[in-house]
Amino acid sequence: MDPLENIDGDRFDGVFPVPVMDRAAHALEGGKVLFFPRLAFALNADERGFLDPRCSDGRSKNVSYDLSSGVLKGTTLAGGERDRMQAMMLRFAQTARALVATLLPMYERQLRVGRTSYRPVEVKDRPSSYRKDDSRLHVDAFPTRPNQGERILRVFSNVNPAGRGRIWRLGEPFEICAQRFLPSLRRPFPGQRWLLRATGLTAGYRSDYDHYMLALHDTMKGDDHYQRHCRQCEVSFPAATTWMVFTDQVPHAAMAGQYLFEQTFHVPVQCLQDPATAPLAVLERLLGRSLTARPSGDALQKRSIRAS
Ligand code: SIN
Ligand code: FE
Repeated sequence: MDPLENIDGDRFDGVFPVPVMDRAAHALEGGKVLFFPRLAFALNADERGFLDPRCSDGRSKNVSYDLSSGVLKGTTLAGGERDRMQAMMLRFAQTARALVATLLPMYERQLRVGRTSYRPVEVKDRPSSYRKDDSRLHVDAFPTRPNQGERILRVFSNVNPAGRGRIWRLGEPFEICAQRFLPSLRRPFPGQRWLLRATGLTAGYRSDYDHYMLALHDTMKGDDHYQRHCRQCEVSFPAATTWMVFTDQVPHAAMAGQYLFEQTFHVPVQCLQDPATAPLAVLERLLGRSLTARPSGDALQKRSIRAS
């Protein structure tokens, strides 16, 4: 299977015929990357000044922007430069959203806009421990922001001014990967979720789904043999192109490249054309139980703390 599904068009707010919309949703939910070979996020003259790794604070992987709170992180820029960086991040967030709105209107209706990120540092130079090392194949899962099965949809635009591609590896289908690792993943221990939340380590309730996705993310990244020998292919996303993928479903790894934008969207499972393709449905099928139900033990513990 070709891991990429090409979608033609050179406008983020263009109009897509219904058969193209159907093909896009089907491919995306089936674990493909939607690739837009003619869709470039063009930087204006001002923004091109940010094509410099020194925009990053040197510690973070990315400059990140949270549209809902207006908080910009990961950069040491100050004053007017900081404002202009923020405006550029906002512009990418709005541009990526326009693409989802026109191509995937059934997702757009209940979409939550997540973080926007700008990655001006060469992938090979990014500091990291193995858990944070995105050059190891992984599915995305957030340690501090549980999502109870909601999908992670990401839009990427390569803005490299020297024409360099963003090199990724793409791995095997989610179900095969889950079947391989599930037997070795530790089970959540009683009270763990509640403890995480009570101590402020997670924003919200870490469901069994979040637990298994995080364990899958860590275990895949930590398995050197798997990293080298599992079914995989290398893909280069050329400069001045855009792509979109459910990164909670498709094992991916960033191997090389510099200057990338990324926008995260959270999509409720019920918006999908085929909810049975979601990692939540796949894991629940493999484990034979619900992964988002709250066990009564946790509820009891919560009540007893409130009472004391
Ligand atoms: C990732 O999403 O894991 C990394 C993607 C990239 O920076 O190219
Ligand atoms: Fe990732």
